[in-house]
Amino acid sequence: MSRRNKLQKFAEVFNFPNVYQSFDLDKTELLGPNREVFELKGNWHKTHFKNENPITLELACGRGEYTNLLASMYPERNFIGVDIKGARIWLGAKNAIEQKLTNAAYLRTKIERINYYFEKGEVDEIWITFPDPFLKKGKSNRRLTARRFLESYREILKPGGIVHLKTDNDVLFEFSEESVKDYEHAEILYSNWDIYSKPLIFKELEGKTYYENMHLAKGITIKYLRFQFK
Ligand SMILES: C[S@@+](CC[C@H](N)C(=O)[O-])C[C@H]1O[C@@H](n2cnc3c(N)ncnc32)[C@H](O)[C@@H]1O
Repeated sequence: MSRRNKLQKFAEVFNFPNVYQSFDLDKTELLGPNREVFELKGNWHKTHFKNENPITLELACGRGEYTNLLASMYPERNFIGVDIKGARIWLGAKNAIEQKLTNAAYLRTKIERINYYFEKGEVDEIWITFPDPFLKKGKSNRRLTARRFLESYREILKPGGIVHLKTDNDVLFEFSEESVKDYEHAEILYSNWDIYSKPLIFKELEGKTYYENMHLAKGITIKYLRFQFK
């Protein structure tokens, strides 16, 4: 994408009613519509959604396919896609606006900073869709299912909150299973190394993201892990 195109999207996103951004890593403030500063931690229901419906996050949402799909499947719930890449957030948010999904919002930030933007127990569920596997030696701590991330998810989730992981990557999947097993405050509810080998048991799994379609085209099997905090 050209620099001009990027800058255009960057400017345009401030006209969207459904995007909040924290891109200056020296600050924690969130810029929302019209470049206004928003204090959303603990206030997503009141300030953004204007309802008390449960909140689901999609982490590493990319172009927001899951956020928008789930928002259209469950109008009585709220969904927030989280990613650091501005152009991807722009597309997910634009599609949500075009589909009139008022229950879908987007947060541009590093997932490492998620606790700045959600209060304890503010979130009901989390999806992690095709996160980067960080396969290089010494980088496993950056995987979104590493213990430090599990700790931060547990903090913002309601007690008993569920996390869904969908991935193409065997190393990441095995790592995630082990990470959850090793974490004393979590338990695996369901694990499947090849979800399309049999009829799907959860209808939410039908959704396909940009990366999922790329992996399926190469014949790579798709894995799914569901776990819960206690
Ligand atoms: C492989 S892509 C998957 C995107 C989308 N879920 C899909 O399946 O098409 C991984 C995404 O995770 C985002 N990401 C990776 N690490 C992140 C982090 N620490 N904080 C925020 N976003 C992150 C990247 O920007 C990228 O969009």
